[in-house]
Amino acid sequence: MAEELIIAGKTKAERYENLLPQIEAVIQGETDMIANMANVASMLWETFASSSFSLHTHNQLDSGASPSWMWVGFYRVVDDELVLGPFQGPLACSRIRYGHGVCGQAWAQERTIIVPDVNLFPGHIACSSASRSEIVVPLRLNSGRVFAVLDIDSSQTCAFDDVDREWLERIAGRILCMEKMGKLPDLPG
Ligand code: SME
Repeated sequence: MAEELIIAGKTKAERYENLLPQIEAVIQGETDMIANMANVASMLWETFASSSFSLHTHNQLDSGASPSWMWVGFYRVVDDELVLGPFQGPLACSRIRYGHGVCGQAWAQERTIIVPDVNLFPGHIACSSASRSEIVVPLRLNSGRVFAVLDIDSSQTCAFDDVDREWLERIAGRILCMEKMGKLPDLPG
């Protein structure tokens, strides 16, 4: 696997484009879901949060967008709740009920939800008072069943758009491929 993440691209789209093959390389062959979620959370964080200053500057010049990500992580479906998985960022709530908050709604509706202003989203769960906008992307099996969600928070309103939706859904799809691999029976010997 790759040993060092290369962060490249002036715009958000370019950064995702450079990031996706690196995510594929890192999770390729690894069937453990938690390990893959942990590395994906880290790589997204390194690309869009740790280097947010330069991205902010570039995006102001290029598209006017400024992510300022402050939390990236996964919640896994366990029985009838979402349970906190690998993440980067401040302390977060451990469990979210079906249909509750943005995460629970994305699970229930089985679709990506972009919230431009969390204060205007009824039932938003404020894990951090600094969160201003959010995107939640479901991870689905072929059957359509949601087995996890990817949740990203920003300290700025309107941080997420269709560029994020498109690329994050692709990334979520890659993790699904690995999940299916993990269900293959063990080979003898
Ligand atoms: N805001 C989320 C809860 C999870 S935290 O943001 C990490 C929600 O409303 O579901």
